[in-house]
Amino acid sequence: MENEIREAVVKFESLLRQQLERQNRMEQAAPEKDFAGMKTITVGLIDGDGIGPIIMKQAERVLEKLLADDIASGRVVLKKIEGLTIENRLALGKAVPEDVLAAIKTCDVLLKGPTTTPKGGTLESANVTLRRELDLYANVRPVSVPEEGIDWIFFRENTEGEYALGSRGIELPGKFSMDFKVTTDAGTRRIAKAAFDYARANGKTNVAIVTKANIMKKTDGMFSRIAHEVAAEYPEIEADDWYIDIMTANLVNPAVRSKFQVFLLPNLYGDIITDEAAQIQGGVGTAGSANIGGQYAMFEAIHGSAPRKIEAGEGDYANPSSILKAAELMLRHIAMTDRADRLNAALALCLEQEKRVVVTGHRDGATCAAFTDYLLEKL
Ligand code: IPM
Ligand code: MG
Repeated sequence: MENEIREAVVKFESLLRQQLERQNRMEQAAPEKDFAGMKTITVGLIDGDGIGPIIMKQAERVLEKLLADDIASGRVVLKKIEGLTIENRLALGKAVPEDVLAAIKTCDVLLKGPTTTPKGGTLESANVTLRRELDLYANVRPVSVPEEGIDWIFFRENTEGEYALGSRGIELPGKFSMDFKVTTDAGTRRIAKAAFDYARANGKTNVAIVTKANIMKKTDGMFSRIAHEVAAEYPEIEADDWYIDIMTANLVNPAVRSKFQVFLLPNLYGDIITDEAAQIQGGVGTAGSANIGGQYAMFEAIHGSAPRKIEAGEGDYANPSSILKAAELMLRHIAMTDRADRLNAALALCLEQEKRVVVTGHRDGATCAAFTDYLLEKL
């Protein structure tokens, strides 16, 4: 094992140097893009795998109707991005093939269907790669259950934690494996600022900082400390510390859960708890997700590509709500608030108030296309 240990030490040094470079780059980041003042906004549309093309086709119909005037005037360009399929990615051995990444970088914002992530092997998740390559540091996920007074928004750090080096751990075959978790100063400061800015701009009075700093002392300890340093600049907003385990319990405790407003968390905890939160709202098919950076932003469904649904021949019955909510988040991000409000109102009518066409995800429910016909009628 001596050779393996020496190789691992060399690899570890290079990982440390790369992370230091990343931290330094973040400190020198360019000012963030201002969409409201832009002449043309290019929206990239990426199908993804499994049910991706099915739900994206419907999302496109909705965008074409909502943005008809903006498309006609040239203010918005909808651009199809091909090639981000599991077949192509496996054939090229690239999480995001170079030509696809180049095409993506010609867009300002992206609406993306779910992409399949192979378990094991070395192919990185396309999501993780895109979040890193486009530096989409804030994963913002709203969840609301109005009848229970639940109005939550999660600010999940989206580029580091367990994800930064998740495909680059060390294995001593037959002996043990090690993965790495990274928290940077600049990476934490910017996500904390995003959460507190949101709270301030939206009249929220409390931010829950959720970690496991009692165990992950270096990384989560730093996350919590920096989050509080940032919080000090927002004296009107209360900042509370929570551990992730008790917070997962709190979310299913009706006696306390409605008091939470804004959540700020490192990457993996944010990944897990936002699925739980989406389930409370009605399922992962009902929640949208925004991946926001200073230059690019990507909006997607919170769920995966549902290969089992495709195998069962039920792909056409997939629920498009999650990708449509992502489209709404995208419209808000590009300062098209009135279009976002129209979509939101139509979705609320179809999903909560009128419920004339109901998607269950199975053959007993409406198809993705039939639901969208209904939604388009109400738009
Ligand atoms: C999510 C997903 C992704 C993640 C997967 C698909 C890589 O679960 O967006 O929450 O783990 O972040
Ligand atoms: Mg997830």
